[in-house]
Amino acid sequence: MGKDIRAGFGARVAGLCLAAVAASASPSAAAAADPVSFKNHLFAIIHNRCLVCHQPGGDGFEKSGLDLRTYESLMKGTRHGPVVVPGDAFVSNLNVLVEGRAAKGIRMPHNQPPLSAHEIDVFRRWVNEGARNN
Ligand code: HEC
Repeated sequence: MGKDIRAGFGARVAGLCLAAVAASASPSAAAAADPVSFKNHLFAIIHNRCLVCHQPGGDGFEKSGLDLRTYESLMKGTRHGPVVVPGDAFVSNLNVLVEGRAAKGIRMPHNQPPLSAHEIDVFRRWVNEGARNN
């Protein structure tokens, strides 16, 4: 199950990459090469899809301790520790959960439609680029 999802996602990403190579002179290809910004890209997704539960009073915060209101609170992680390993989205729990690589029941956002392939890619690139406060 998890394997199928990864394969499907990989295929979509590969498709996007090919499109980017084919159109390497276009502005969108240039944008794809720019580093992901926490403030301008990642936090917009967190704000729309995660924050309702991951702040004090929200279900996600109450159950896990993960507060997603700031860079610092994201990096602090849950009450069990960090969910981000800078530079390594493959092992980062944050990515495991938004990609649905863990048990279906704890895909994030919890009990809601998954993030789009683009949003998942923003999470992945931000972590792989060092999870900076940029
Ligand atoms: C509808 C509420 C809800 C939304 C929206 C939501 N979460 Fe959660 N989140 C939860 C709950 C509940 C838990 C605790 C799950 C558990 O431990 O059973 C949790 C736990 C987590 C954990 C920690 C899991 C662990 O213990 O290691 C991470 C990481 C996480 N969420 C990330 C996100 C991200 C990123 C988003 C947005 C893309 C998001 N969540 C959106 C409810 C939500």
